[in-house]
Amino acid sequence: MRHLTTLMDVSRDDVLAIFQLAAELKTQTRAGERPPLLQHKVLTQIFEKPSLRTRLSFESAAVHLGGQSSFFNSRDAGMHGRESLHDIAKVASSLSDFVVLRTYSQETINDFAKWSSCPVINGLSDDHHPCQALTDLFTIQEHFGKLDGQHLVFVGDGNNVATSLAMLCAQLSMPMTLVCPPGYEIKPSIVRELISRFPSAEFKQTQNYRSAVKNADIVYTDVWTSMGQEDEADVRKKDFNGFQVNEELMALSKPSCRFMHDLPARRGQEVTDGVIDGEQSIVFQQAENRMHLAKGLLVWLDRRRLK
Ligand code: CP
Ligand code: NVA
Repeated sequence: MRHLTTLMDVSRDDVLAIFQLAAELKTQTRAGERPPLLQHKVLTQIFEKPSLRTRLSFESAAVHLGGQSSFFNSRDAGMHGRESLHDIAKVASSLSDFVVLRTYSQETINDFAKWSSCPVINGLSDDHHPCQALTDLFTIQEHFGKLDGQHLVFVGDGNNVATSLAMLCAQLSMPMTLVCPPGYEIKPSIVRELISRFPSAEFKQTQNYRSAVKNADIVYTDVWTSMGQEDEADVRKKDFNGFQVNEELMALSKPSCRFMHDLPARRGQEVTDGVIDGEQSIVFQQAENRMHLAKGLLVWLDRRRLK
C-alpha cells in the first residue's frame, strides 16, 4: 500500500505513470466517458483549512469514477480533542478506501499515515502541497509536450507550493529558480534533502528576477501570506514589495513563456488582473487539471493497494 504524504513517497516512474493515467482519464472525461474504476469505493476528506479546488477536485474525481466522497472539517472529525489522532486514523481508514487530509502540521499527516490501513493523500500542509505540484507539472507537460529542461521560475514565497514544485522539478529534471526576498527561501533542511537525493538538480534561489524571468518557460506565483500566517500579512506585504508578477515583469519573458498560479489568487497583490487574465496565463487549465490529476492518482493508488 502507498501513501502520498510528500513527493518523497513517489519515484520519477511513479509520477510519469500517474500522469499517463490522468491524461487517459482526461481524454475519456472530455469524450463524456466516466469509467467506474472506483465503483463503491469511499473517499474521506478531513480538512483543518478552507479549500475549493482540492476538496472539489477529489469529490468530483471520486464521483466520476463511480465512488463516493464524504467531507469533515477537523472539528467534526474529532481532531480538536474529542479523541486522539491515532484513534481517528484507525477508525476513518477502516471505513474508507482513501483519506485526503489538509492540515497545519505535516506531522499530523505523517502520523495519520503511520496508523492508517488505507492510502493517505496530503491535500496540503504548512510544508507541502504534492497534489498541486503534480497537477502543475502535468499541465506543463500537456502544454509544452515535454518536461525535461523546462525552466520554472517561481516569484514569491518559498512556501508549501514552492517546496513541492522544487521537489518535483528536481525529480523530473526541470530547472527551477525561486525568486524571493531574503528570509523567504525554501527551508534549508528541505533544500539539503533535495540536493542529496537529486545531486544533478538545477535549483537556484535569488532575489533578482530579471535574468531568471528572461530565461523562464513558466513564471509561477502564489499568495504572499499562506493559510495560518494571517498575523504576518502586513509585514509580508511590505517584504514582498517589488516581487509582484505584473505586466512589466512578464514583458521580460519570452512570448512562449506561460504564467501559472495554484489559486486562490490575491489579485492586485502577488499578481495583477492583466497577467492572470492575460494571453500567457494557463491558470484555469491548471485548476481544471486538479480533478484529472486526482483521478489518475486515486486509480494509481488503488492499483497499488495490494502491492
Ligand atoms: N490550489 C488549491 O489547493 O486550492 P484550494 O485551497 O482551494 O484547495
Ligand atoms: N500557499 C497557499 C496555497 C493555497 C492553495 C496556502 O498554503 O495558503
